[in-house]
Amino acid sequence: MSIKKAYNSWSKIYDTNVNKTRDLDKEVTIKTLSEYTFDRVLELGSGTGKNTEYLLQQSIDITCLDFSEEMMAIAREKVKNPIVKFVKTDLNKEWEVSNDFFDLVTCSLTLEHIQDLDTIFKQAYKKLKHQGKFFICELHPIKQYLGSKARYETDDGIQELEVYTHHTTDYIDSAKKQGFKLLELKEWFDADLENKIPRLISFVFQKG
Ligand SMILES: C[S@@+](CC[C@H](N)C(=O)[O-])C[C@H]1O[C@@H](n2cnc3c(N)ncnc32)[C@H](O)[C@@H]1O
Repeated sequence: MSIKKAYNSWSKIYDTNVNKTRDLDKEVTIKTLSEYTFDRVLELGSGTGKNTEYLLQQSIDITCLDFSEEMMAIAREKVKNPIVKFVKTDLNKEWEVSNDFFDLVTCSLTLEHIQDLDTIFKQAYKKLKHQGKFFICELHPIKQYLGSKARYETDDGIQELEVYTHHTTDYIDSAKKQGFKLLELKEWFDADLENKIPRLISFVFQKG
């Protein structure tokens, strides 16, 4: 099944099924971004709007990009605010939004589905203002090496999605190639597995 089809199907239970990765990402996003100020935000792979709700409290203009109509439909219902625009977009293609416009680009739990990170870093750089930030939170490469991947349960059993392994240096090298500076790199653990295997990795990069 294609990634897009899988998310259209997962959307019905994405917010409610047991998902430690989703829940920890929400905590990480709030903890990290509350240290920064931003007015205009571009959210990549915005999904059902889990993080959009938090971003709304901090910003005056949000553009959400995702290619799953069904995930986006849930976000539209949840968010219902005219400052949030939803633009159906395949992140592997051209993003139809203004250049040099955003203070913050955010991306959570989406890059494991993107093979070519350069496409993402290149466009994020173009869309950000000078000194704009790019926040990323993804499944930790160690979890990927151990076989973890986006998956959900259906009546027919576990549905695993198509994913690509990205090493920590893949993110950093791709960001540096575009001119980003690394401001933060953090590893995040489940509360009951403190300091064992990190579940998530997060980065904050700055343009220029
Ligand atoms: C695991 S969900 C994460 C959603 C949200 N960021 C969150 O943290 O809850 C991944 C999202 O990325 C989107 N996605 C995956 N590949 C994509 C692509 N190539 N273009 C646009 N969206 C994509 C999916 O449709 C899905 O909504």
